[in-house]
Formats: sequence, structure tokens, C-alpha cells
Amino acid sequence: MSNKIQSLSGYIHEYQKSVNQPEKFWARIAESFHWHKSWDSVLKWEPQGPHVKWFENAKLNITENIFERHLFTHGDKAAIIWEPNDPNEANKIISYRELFELTCQFSNAMKAQGIEKGDRVIIYMPMIPEAAIAMLACARIGAVHSVVFAGFSSSALADRIIDCEAKMVLTSDGNFRGAKNIPVKAVVDEALEKTTTVETVIVCKRTNADVQMVSGRDIWWHDAIKEESIEHAAESLDAEDLLFILYTSGSTGKPKGVVHTTGGYMVYTQYSFENVFQYAQNDVYWCTADIGWITGHSYIIYGPLLSGATTLMFEGVPTYPHPGRFWEIVDKYQVNQFYTAPTAIRALQAEGLEPLAPYKLDSLKVIGSVGEPINEEAWHWYHDHIGKGNCPLVDTWWQTETGGIMISALAGITPNKPAHASLPLPGIQPIIVDAEGNELKGNNVEGNLCVKFPWPSMLRTTYGDHKRFKETYFSAYPGMYFTGDGAKRDHDGYIRILGRVDDVINVSGHRMGTAEVENAINEHPRVIESAVVGFPHDIKGQGIYAYVICDAEGVTNETLINEIKNTVRKIIGPIAKPDAIQIVPGLPKTRSGKIMRRILRKVASKDISNLGDTSTLLNPEIVEQIIIGSQIK
Ligand code: WT7
Repeated sequence: MSNKIQSLSGYIHEYQKSVNQPEKFWARIAESFHWHKSWDSVLKWEPQGPHVKWFENAKLNITENIFERHLFTHGDKAAIIWEPNDPNEANKIISYRELFELTCQFSNAMKAQGIEKGDRVIIYMPMIPEAAIAMLACARIGAVHSVVFAGFSSSALADRIIDCEAKMVLTSDGNFRGAKNIPVKAVVDEALEKTTTVETVIVCKRTNADVQMVSGRDIWWHDAIKEESIEHAAESLDAEDLLFILYTSGSTGKPKGVVHTTGGYMVYTQYSFENVFQYAQNDVYWCTADIGWITGHSYIIYGPLLSGATTLMFEGVPTYPHPGRFWEIVDKYQVNQFYTAPTAIRALQAEGLEPLAPYKLDSLKVIGSVGEPINEEAWHWYHDHIGKGNCPLVDTWWQTETGGIMISALAGITPNKPAHASLPLPGIQPIIVDAEGNELKGNNVEGNLCVKFPWPSMLRTTYGDHKRFKETYFSAYPGMYFTGDGAKRDHDGYIRILGRVDDVINVSGHRMGTAEVENAINEHPRVIESAVVGFPHDIKGQGIYAYVICDAEGVTNETLINEIKNTVRKIIGPIAKPDAIQIVPGLPKTRSGKIMRRILRKVASKDISNLGDTSTLLNPEIVEQIIIGSQIK
């Protein structure tokens, strides 16, 4: 099976077909998968709902399309190469057949613990093969997985468990990350004090940390699978049955559960993986993301495994035990496609060229970037020093909500241009609109990025709250999906993503809602009010800057600032910890009481030459005080 585009003219041809006859186009792609029963209709789209259904009434199991479909041709091929945090520990190379057996065995174990189709299972695990097995086993039995990044705090974890009413949590005793050994199970224990729905916790042994096993609730992974068979007949699922929920931040305080379903997600992640990375059968592919994010779901697990690829999974961090670790791994496994985030590139660029010297990197054919706009300097460093000037660099734009890559070069097929995501994949119809929603046609235009036609891996709803789905994505421009990003089509017709236009900050490629961070800051007893904005950060892309009004009597600002940072760390997790906190006497507000964030963003960015019109402020004098405060801080 291959739907791989081979040439530029092939791309143009496919793109035309996908726009002229989308249903016919996607039916053809979908036919190369294994379905128990075919669909009644390819697409049902009701923009008013909005309700979208792909491959209605078709029956399938996504794991059969990973395993059974490939076993005769490549059962012995490596499915997952797992590289541990500590380079001196043994790696693991797991074949398709072995991964299949482990998945079946764990499917049986979950069923034995009472998990049924439709139940929600939280996965809070480090980057170990069992995390992949956990996701696949859920998919096999029709349970809905919700992976929570293992860096989130217990209260963030509890919120997610409560929101999806999870019945089971899969976790580990601990998590090796660089020099750290993080007590993952203890975080779960703390979270479960606040929740009521979880019946079983399965704990995978990884670090041998001392953990408390709660009797009647907690069971070791190795005990859970001990008596289980390595055979399991896959559940036949509906194309629109939920595959997973993944929580992500938005412009309100509460993270939303992005819902992805089975059939369309399968078709699109496989199709986009094969085409963007131009994966060839014996290649070794490596995506450095964590399975806690959508990139890990779509492009470590589902897209590659559906393509029969060898996917590398790395437990550790780029700089441990030395800043050449990524490159050491590339050479060790002769990695052909390497996919990472601009923040990692900038961090490694800052280490200089010395860490690269011992490595050849000559196996690389394609390098990729995801998560945030890649600045030209990082683009060139990556292209010249990692790609050695001869690997196509795919700058892939997409979102948790889109499920798969939407705008990107196809490696070596369509041209790539520094800092430009470039062209849409077949089947994707992005448009740039002005504030009134008029489509800006032609080149040299700038506005908000929307998608005007459904695609198979789009989110279907936000879990338990369809109204929020409609309001967030389909209200700004009725009938169209609004991305929250600004974009420009340049004079050559290539799209450049300009970043978020809403109250979302992109910190190291991870999305943080300003309201969410403010809510966490406001939990500190001395905080009266706060306002959070993003500012340019050399490594992270954007950093978090918080302006805070406090009752500071009897404490130093320094103590307060540290306490506030810890509050945020405790409520959300280390990724949300503000980089800068400025204690202020007031916030610039309009007469209607709205905080004028534009001014706060400029001050945080040290760009105070032109603050614009401040005459509509209720308290214009506060601006000067904030500027002075920012300079002595
Ligand atoms: C936001 C989505 C998609 C996986 C990782 C992030 C930004 C993503 C790019 C890119 C410019 C990008 C956008 C988008 N973004 N990729 N190649 N160039 N910006 O997923 O957490 O859902 O965040 O990340 O602003 O809206 P996410």
C-alpha cells in the first residue's frame, strides 16, 4: 500500500483532485486500509452544528491496520527502537510481531480489570515502550485514551481525570529525565485524592522507586499481564468512535479535551506521515516529541506504525549526559528522518558546533520542524549543520485539533523556503481572511488563518462541551475552522505562519493559555490580580511574563516572586512557570475594565517606543510606573 506522491507535478495533480472531488479523493486513500465494513458516506458535513462525520458507519480497528495487515510482510521488522535516558543502559528493539503480542496481552489485562469499549483511560507515563503499548491496547479494545504529559502537576492531572471521568490510570513508579528521577506514581496518588471515578491504577516498574501500592486499586503492570494470553481479537469499532481525548490549552482558564475519532484520524495520519517525510521501507524515523503531546500521538505512534515504519522512541532529554546526545543517537541508529522542535534546535545551537564534531549525521535524508514558527537563524543552522545542506527541511504547521500536518513541504517533492510552512497537503484548504472574514486571495496577503473545508483528522468536538467547540473554532468566521494563528501568503504563494492571534502563548512549542496561568497565579493568597503575556525568548520562542498586583505587606518582592512561581508549578507544572514576574501597583485598564494587554506585551518585549493610544485608559499613569518597574526589575 502506498499513496506516496513522487513528484511536484504529482503533488499539483493530487491537490487539484482533492479540492475538486474531496470525497472521491479520500475514498481512494481510505480504500488502501483494512475495514470490516465499508462506509455509507465518505463525508457528512453540517456547518451549522457543526457536525462532521468521515466514513460514516464503516467498521474497523486501527491496530489491525498496524499489525495484522503487516505481519506477513514485516513481522520481524523493528517497529519501535527504544533508546533509554542513560546511554549505558540496554536499548530495546521491538519487532512488529513482538509489539503486536505485547499489545494483545495488555489489551487482555485491561479487559480483565474491567475496562470496556468507550471507557476512558488516562496514560501518565514516561517515554517507555509500555506507554506506546498502553495507547495501542486502548485502541485495540475500543477504550478511549487520554495521555497526560508526565510533567503536569497532580492538580492538572486531577482536572483531566475529572473532566473525562476516567476509570483507569496507567502510570509508572518513576520517570528518568536527564539527571532527574521524577516520582510519577506519587503524583498520581495525590491526584486521585481529588477524584472519584478511577477504579484501577496499573503501575509499570521503571526506576524501582519506592512506591505506595493502594490495595484493591493499584496493580503492577507485570502482575497484570502475567496470566494473560498474547492473543486478542480486535474490537470492531465505528469509524466515528472516539480514539482519544487530548487536553490542550485555549484562551479560557480550563484546558479543553480535543476529541479525535478512529477512521479519519487513521487515514490522515498515515497519509501525511508517508508524504511529508517521504518514508521508504527500510528507513529509521525519529520524532523527538513526547507522547503527551499530539506530535507524539500522530508522528511517533499512529502515523509511523500505520505505515509499517521503524519509529525511534527516546526516553531522555537532548543534553543528557552531553549536548551531543541527539546526534549520537542519529549516528547510532542511522536515523533517516529526524523531526524536532525549534526550541530544541535553538538550545542545541547555543551549545556551539563542538558537540556535533564527533558525529557524521550522514544517514539523514529529511529533517523536520514542528510546534512554533522557526526563525531564519535556527532554520539555517539546522539546515546547514544537521542536514549538511542537502536534506529537505520540512516546516510542518498543524495543531492538536488538526490531528495531522496541514501545511508543509513534502520532503524533496515540493520546494522548501526558510521559515515558511509553504503549501497545504492534499485535502487541506487553508485560506487567509481579513477581520470581516473575507477571503484574501492572491499573493502578498496577511490575515487570520482558517480552513474552509473539513479534513479526515479534524477534531470532532471538545469533550463534554460541544458548545465550546463551536464557539472556539467555528464562531469567528461561521462555517469555517479558525486556527487562532495569523498567516501570510508571500509573493511566491508560500504560507508563513506568524503565530497566535489569541490569548495563547507558545512556550517551547507547547501551548499555554494566559488565562490558565493567571488562574494559577491568583491562587497565591497574596495575589490580588494578575495579567500574563508572552514575550520573545531566545530559546523557548516565547516566554511567560506575569504582571501581578499583590498585598505585599511584610514580605520582599523576591520572596513573593518565588512563591508565585512555585504556586504555578504546583497547579499546572514546570512548563507553565513564569520566566518573569513583575509586581505592579495596578494594571492598565480601559473604562470597561478590560486589561489592555497590547501595552503589557510591548513592555514585556522591551518595545516601548510606540505604545499606541493610551488615552482610553482609566488609569494612564500606571503605564509609566509599569515601564519604570520593568527596567529596575
Ligand atoms: C500551535 C499548535 C502541532 C504539534 C505541536 C503543537 C504553532 C505549530 C508550527 C509551525 C509555526 C506552528 C501554531 C499552532 N505551530 N507548528 N510549523 N510553524 N507555528 O501543537 O500545542 O496544538 O499548538 O503551534 O501557533 O496554532 P499545539
